[in-house]
Amino acid sequence: MSNPYKDEFPPVREIPLHGRDHKDVLAMMTDLRDREESRWVDGFASGSVYHGDPEHIAFLSEVYALHSQTNPLHADLWPSISKFDGEICRMTATMLNGDDDVVGTVSSGGTESILLAMKTYRDRGFANGITEPEMVIPATAHAAFDKASQYFGIKKVSIQPGPDGRADVVAMTAAINANTVVVVGSAPNYPNGLVDPIEALAEAASERGVGMHVDACLGGFVLPWAERLGYEVPPFDFRIPGVTSMSADTHKYGYAAKGTSVVLYRGKALRHFQYYTTASWSGGLYYSPTFAGSRPGALIAQCWAAMVSMGEDGYLAAVRQILETASQVKAAVREIDGIEVIGDPLFDVAWKSDEVNIWGVLDEMAKRGWSLNGLQEPAAMHLCVTLRHCQTGVVERLVADLAACVQYLRENPDAGSDLAPVYGMAQMTEMQGLVEAGIADYVDKLYE
Ligand SMILES: Cc1ncc(COP(=O)(O)O)c(C=O)c1O
Repeated sequence: MSNPYKDEFPPVREIPLHGRDHKDVLAMMTDLRDREESRWVDGFASGSVYHGDPEHIAFLSEVYALHSQTNPLHADLWPSISKFDGEICRMTATMLNGDDDVVGTVSSGGTESILLAMKTYRDRGFANGITEPEMVIPATAHAAFDKASQYFGIKKVSIQPGPDGRADVVAMTAAINANTVVVVGSAPNYPNGLVDPIEALAEAASERGVGMHVDACLGGFVLPWAERLGYEVPPFDFRIPGVTSMSADTHKYGYAAKGTSVVLYRGKALRHFQYYTTASWSGGLYYSPTFAGSRPGALIAQCWAAMVSMGEDGYLAAVRQILETASQVKAAVREIDGIEVIGDPLFDVAWKSDEVNIWGVLDEMAKRGWSLNGLQEPAAMHLCVTLRHCQTGVVERLVADLAACVQYLRENPDAGSDLAPVYGMAQMTEMQGLVEAGIADYVDKLYE
């Protein structure tokens, strides 16, 4: 998708000679915002916006404005941001049943939390004499782990999940060796929304003296409340002794604006492997706990404000609505002939098909305004349920459109001309390089 505004709003290629009037800039930006708002506001998007209530957004924006000039790199100038940072970590650790030993940092998002954790284990491995570090992950783990493998030179040992879609404990245990620095599980994973057998994985890891990272980026701010509401939630957090780190995204179900996540470690000693410090730079003594140098303190402030303004009662009420809506989605999708829900997820509901090309269904749904997510191995698609889908009529619209699109694919098996053929190509190992090059070209287009 290239720039749809090219003609109406000519691209700005040079800094304007004279500064534009604030009013004009704001008018143009408001216009663009208004054009793009309805799809996510009305619940056509999977995941993406997790809260989205206008009053909540206005409150977070007000907090952002209050702290917009802050930068925790200068802790002497803005100790308030360090306080918010520490308290976000503490609140998250407590929610995930970590005792005072569990510490963390606020990062810019789930991917950064995962990258930081993997770098941490790599560096601890180096300190312990492991020169060729490996990570053992289920194939359903987020792409951020593959990214970490590429960025940090950690060998990725990716194990196909069992037939139930969850991590295969026996195969993952067998893959642990003397070079393994970390074992990974998801709570839940992104593709099919299922929680891996964390307890068994953590036991296998700790018996072999290996760290265990639980990626709760998606579920960290849902599962604790789901458990409190009486839903069946498998053990996944710091109550399991072998769990040595976790990631949980405040900018998803924590309901902060985009740009924050929390990475937690059991013990300060492990967290130290994440930090960067130098005493030999001509610019002076320097440190950064995460990857960035300067960081937007305002995002940390609004994250703190989101958490304390939601409160336990707010999170419980939100999760109750989300889980009830997800149950309706699951029940209704199970009624549609030709598609099948994968497992019994709590809120991130995936479905596959033995009868129709599911990526064709994805394309047909897109024509009806939906922005759902395509998945591979198995070919599937999902809806990650958020508060946007809890509005009246959204589930009914989804199910009616989905039933119609599945039926359309039955009658027109080759339908779907956007992502379906690309996914089709990506299934052939020898074509994956070509598809990856095509993705890079697509990204180039986004910058044009
Ligand atoms: C399970 C899981 N881990 C990690 C991530 C990455 O999060 P982000 O997009 O904030 O980098 C996601 C995103 O959806 C996720 O679902």
